[in-house]
Amino acid sequence: MIITLIGPPGSGKGTQSSRLTKQLGIPHLSTGELLREAKREGSSRSRAIAERIDAGQLVSDELIFELVDERLSSPMYQAGCLLDGVPRTLSQARMLNDLLRARGTKLDHAVALIAPQEDLVQRLLARALTEGRTDDTPETINRRMQIYDWETAPLLDYYRLHKLLRLVSAEGTPDEVFHRVMSVLQPHCWCATVRG
Ligand code: AP5
Ligand code: MG
Repeated sequence: MIITLIGPPGSGKGTQSSRLTKQLGIPHLSTGELLREAKREGSSRSRAIAERIDAGQLVSDELIFELVDERLSSPMYQAGCLLDGVPRTLSQARMLNDLLRARGTKLDHAVALIAPQEDLVQRLLARALTEGRTDDTPETINRRMQIYDWETAPLLDYYRLHKLLRLVSAEGTPDEVFHRVMSVLQPHCWCATVRG
């Protein structure tokens, strides 16, 4: 079973992923995390990635799909996965369809986390004080929000059209959001595989 979590910066994709992977027993694949790992390699590729991330800009589709394809080739991803942060554009959505089709599988659910932007900015500014992510500056947060609105939000209509969209309010506590996510997934034949 393959699920993607879509949402603006700070909407809780990472927070919900750690709960969902435990509950559903499928591994997490975050393109942001993969890029931050690649950024620490110290290669020329790392410097190019760091520039894009720190400016709040998307990295190239080619690099993203190289990383995703490599990860999906690992045996632990054979039973499915929880994608976090990909696709982020309509072209990535089409590339993901092609990649999954070539592997004989498909996307089952696109869970979209929705919350007012002001609340999300506050979450990210609070995280900046504790985690020190280099893209959690006010300017870069603003740019990431714009990119979400321009490039990623159109995916909601795309997945609605494909009947894969599960809209969830990301307001309230992480546990409240988690219960909402589970309640939108359960009607779609998850009962046999959902743990607990
Ligand atoms: P990525 O790492 O994916 O960052 P993002 O999308 O900006 O989202 P965040 O990770 O900041 O937020 P989140 O939704 O995961 O929320 P979280 O759970 O952490 O991508 C980073 C960059 O990599 C991109 O800008 C781009 O440059 C590049 N990139 C990645 N994927 C790409 C792709 N496919 N194509 C091209 N480029 C790509 O929560 C945030 C904070 O809020 C935390 O402190 C958390 O504790 C708190 N929080 C969470 N939920 C709640 C809640 N319900 N109530 C209160 N606080 C909460
Ligand atoms: Mg994240």
